[in-house]
Amino acid sequence: MEKIVVKCINELKGEVNISSAKNAVLPIIAATILCPQNITIENTPMLEDVRVICRLLGELNCDVNISQFDDKLEINTKNIVPIDADIELIRKMRASFLIMGPMLARFGYCKLSMPGGCNIGSRPIDLHLKGFKLLGADVTSDHGFVEVKAKKLTGNRIYLDFPSVGATENIMMASVFANGTTIIENAAEEPEIWDLANFLNSMGANIKGAGFGKITIEGVDKLKGVSYTPIYDRIEAGTFMVAAAITNSKIKINGFNEEHLRPLIEKLKECGVKFGNYENNSVIVDGKVEKRPLDIKTLPYPGFPTDMQPQMMSLLSVVNGVSVITETVFENRFMHVAELQRMGANIKIDGRTAVVEGTLKLTGCEVKATDLRAGAAMILSGLIAEGETIIGDIYHIDRGYVNIEEKFSKLGAEIYRVKM
Ligand code: UD1
Repeated sequence: MEKIVVKCINELKGEVNISSAKNAVLPIIAATILCPQNITIENTPMLEDVRVICRLLGELNCDVNISQFDDKLEINTKNIVPIDADIELIRKMRASFLIMGPMLARFGYCKLSMPGGCNIGSRPIDLHLKGFKLLGADVTSDHGFVEVKAKKLTGNRIYLDFPSVGATENIMMASVFANGTTIIENAAEEPEIWDLANFLNSMGANIKGAGFGKITIEGVDKLKGVSYTPIYDRIEAGTFMVAAAITNSKIKINGFNEEHLRPLIEKLKECGVKFGNYENNSVIVDGKVEKRPLDIKTLPYPGFPTDMQPQMMSLLSVVNGVSVITETVFENRFMHVAELQRMGANIKIDGRTAVVEGTLKLTGCEVKATDLRAGAAMILSGLIAEGETIIGDIYHIDRGYVNIEEKFSKLGAEIYRVKM
């Protein structure tokens, strides 16, 4: 079993290059199902989640070529067959369910095993299915499978009770060839939604308003192959911003979009962190400052991202004063609290709210990455905890961070992987 060891360091120095966004690339890979021509995805982050969705396409008889050397992914889905997809692969990664929308659009049929819950909550798919039904599909679910069938999909007005990222993406992909106009209201506004629409439009789709609450999709007949570069990973960039803050360091981050990170940057500024020298998608983050406690409430974009909540909790656990963090997006996203408490953090949970009383020091010990971003939080706390922090269950971290030890080592951290 592999673990990551992190040692306490004085300071980080230098610059870090951010990869493309996992949450943009996964739906884009699913969307290749909509087009039977060659598609190239440049700057692909070669992550475990990306390999899983590529394996899934492979199971469905697609040609998938991963070039490690230049981070290029070439996909051709011409020979795809709508067989029932491997249950394990769907269970392994919830985002695999994103192939349902494009399969329905291309074949009028798809049957997948119901995605399981995960550590951070039950994560239902009712909104995805509501959208498919309103487009005219028959939806049935039994024996742990969901089946969708339609002769021809027809555009409709679809209101989402909650602006779900996955449901917005799945419905947007399902409606690309639908007759007439589809309107998704209360759609998710995350930058990754805009990126998916941009990718689909570059292939010939007709989607307007993505990135805002109302998305309009006019059905088209077919799409053509393209080469596409996804947006930067705002959560990876955000994680390194918090790394600068927690270690009282000044580092340069290359590969970020200020607008996408506004909710986090504003909170970090409120905490005292300084940002300067914005140029060519880079920024200098200065964490060598007196820090103040914060109140944070996670919300759908453009609110504060739930995917940055654990990392911010690591930071606030060592900021003098009392901070309050409220998690409104997922019902069970405080699994990392017990791990931070093991390191000496002073945190109390009441329902969806965590009260964090800053302590002077954390101490290294054995902890677990209870989910992907919780794993990142453990690394951040490990950078300043006295002694050595040994992180287990790091497969969660590998799902979403490219070469994380190399990137931190380049900044001067003592971090390495061991087999135990
Ligand atoms: C995506 C991201 C994930 C991020 C999350 C919220 C990807 C691959 N993953 O996940 O990193 O944490 O957005 O920003 O992009 N919900 C329903 N019914 C549904 C669907 C969702 O009730 O049909 C609820 C969920 O239980 C959850 C909330 O909506 O409470 C947000 O989920 P959603 O936006 O769908 O997240 P994901 O797309 O799964």
